[in-house]
Amino acid sequence: MCGIVGIIGKNIKTTEIFDKLEKLQYRGYDSAGICIEKDNKFYVHKETGIIDNLRKECPNLFGDVIIGHTRWATHGKVNKTNAHPILSANGCWAVVHNGIIENFAELKDKFASKDELITETDTEIVANILEKGKGKEDLQNFIFTCEQLKGSFALCVMKKGSKSLFIAKKKKPLYVQSIGNKTTIASDPICFEKGEYFKMEDGEYAVANFDNVRFFDCKGRLVSKQALKCFELVSQISKNGFEHFMLKEITETPQKIRGLCKHYQTIDWSFLKRWWINKVKLIGCGSAYHSCLVGAYYFRKHLNIDAEALPASEFLSDNAILDSSTLCVFVSQSGETADTISALKKALKKTKKIISITNVDYSTLASLSPIVLPICAGVEIAVASTKAYTCQIVSLYMLVMALKSKMRNAVRNVLNLSKRLDRFSLDVSKLAEAIKDQKNIFYIGRNLDYITALEGALKLKEISYINCNAYPAGELKHGVLALIQKDVPVIVLVSNKRLVQKTLNSAFEAKSRGAKLFLFHSQPLEKIDLNKFDGGFMLPNVNNDLTCIFETVALQLLAYNVSVMRGLDPDKPRNLAKSVTVE
Ligand code: AGP
Ligand code: GLU
Repeated sequence: MCGIVGIIGKNIKTTEIFDKLEKLQYRGYDSAGICIEKDNKFYVHKETGIIDNLRKECPNLFGDVIIGHTRWATHGKVNKTNAHPILSANGCWAVVHNGIIENFAELKDKFASKDELITETDTEIVANILEKGKGKEDLQNFIFTCEQLKGSFALCVMKKGSKSLFIAKKKKPLYVQSIGNKTTIASDPICFEKGEYFKMEDGEYAVANFDNVRFFDCKGRLVSKQALKCFELVSQISKNGFEHFMLKEITETPQKIRGLCKHYQTIDWSFLKRWWINKVKLIGCGSAYHSCLVGAYYFRKHLNIDAEALPASEFLSDNAILDSSTLCVFVSQSGETADTISALKKALKKTKKIISITNVDYSTLASLSPIVLPICAGVEIAVASTKAYTCQIVSLYMLVMALKSKMRNAVRNVLNLSKRLDRFSLDVSKLAEAIKDQKNIFYIGRNLDYITALEGALKLKEISYINCNAYPAGELKHGVLALIQKDVPVIVLVSNKRLVQKTLNSAFEAKSRGAKLFLFHSQPLEKIDLNKFDGGFMLPNVNNDLTCIFETVALQLLAYNVSVMRGLDPDKPRNLAKSVTVE
């Protein structure tokens, strides 16, 4: 996924690029590196792990041209050699890359000899094609190089002595901001200052010098571009006194839901009235897929429409049966998830009834979608999605209620939910302590509770590295019970009155095989022998559709506590990145 930054200006300090790279760490943090030019020399520093590791090891340098990278490895191990920036064999070109060069093996045969390549990356060949273009004018050489590349890329390139940055992209985001005598290039405008900036398009090239930045088409002809306005996001990216972003973000949930509710009341929903819909497909990845499952439940329950949720990668692998009366809803916090974007492109060929729900209004997903609904969660930094997930559920709820012409009820229910969430606090530390050293944890529930169980298990596994799995409560006896041994924790979710007894029956079956049961319930359990449980929490009950939000927040807090107790960084789980821009 990787985040890239480039700056050209007078006396740029390394600390400036580190600050910007830190903001891009949501794109990956396997390794980080910089290349800075001073007095016609390249100084390259790389470290594995987070930017802080690099910050600590790298001396304070300053120069006029600098590029930096935070990596999520796709090709080649996580080590210093494979970390970017990657230099050409003669050391004259330095490249940072986000994406995958699919034809790198072919290009290696054509443009480099074996002893010229020292990394295992697909990126190194880019630097070497540039090097082979000696004699060509720099921009022509850069365009020629990019034209050789199949796959995806955002590239920021330095050539020793040229006092320029060369920039291009294909299917990966890249933005440019020029203020005074300084130009900054970044994978995300969150790195920019307040003011105007440019969004690079596929097939466009840019060259930044001290005094300006110029954009070109593929023939090297100057093109003029419309600037976009930069909102100040920087202030939002602070922990605000919290130890971790994840906890801060969970805490922000009620306030974000209120903002969402306010915004959704201003939307003109008349477009929905013009649509005849006979089927709905909801598509997302990871947590966004789980919110799609909840959305599909709302569509079926309130509108009696055949609605199905699919992980984007499965939608892509399958022969999706869609026609012009199918509504496709794409959900993505980042709006940059490659699978979701490809799924959207596939759907666009069959139907124009497409809504994307995203947290980033300038994202690729938003730019490709006929209708965009915001998630309104504000910037989410922690890799584990929390407030964005709950806001996605509320967006889907309000969308369905808009279709049902019950907006007023929806607003009342959502505002009530946010008020109750304001007062909601839960001490899950004892439960976290009880499960933190387990190897396997099971989550069970029925219907909507099963979806929440899936999300709760995902949250715990991604930040604690414990093997956690969710099952429909009724499925235990069809195989899963074979895994239940003495003291294995089973987390039981019960929010639906109609299903209380059935879910508890399944839980007691696990208890009989030695499991420890921990209950999260929002239904009174007068006739139930609570002694059968090893721990439990009573949660508020708002209404059948939205009570799952309390369960979700409770399970997010549980995952957070376990992660911290295990001495891990919940904000940056290993092997993951916030924005998954490769398929
Ligand atoms: C959530 O905790 C995960 N980190 C992950 O599953 C995430 O929801 C998924 O990668 C989708 O991301 P998106 O919402 O930005 O598309
Ligand atoms: N393919 C490059 C690498 O492995 C960039 C990876 C990415 O953008 O995720 O280093």
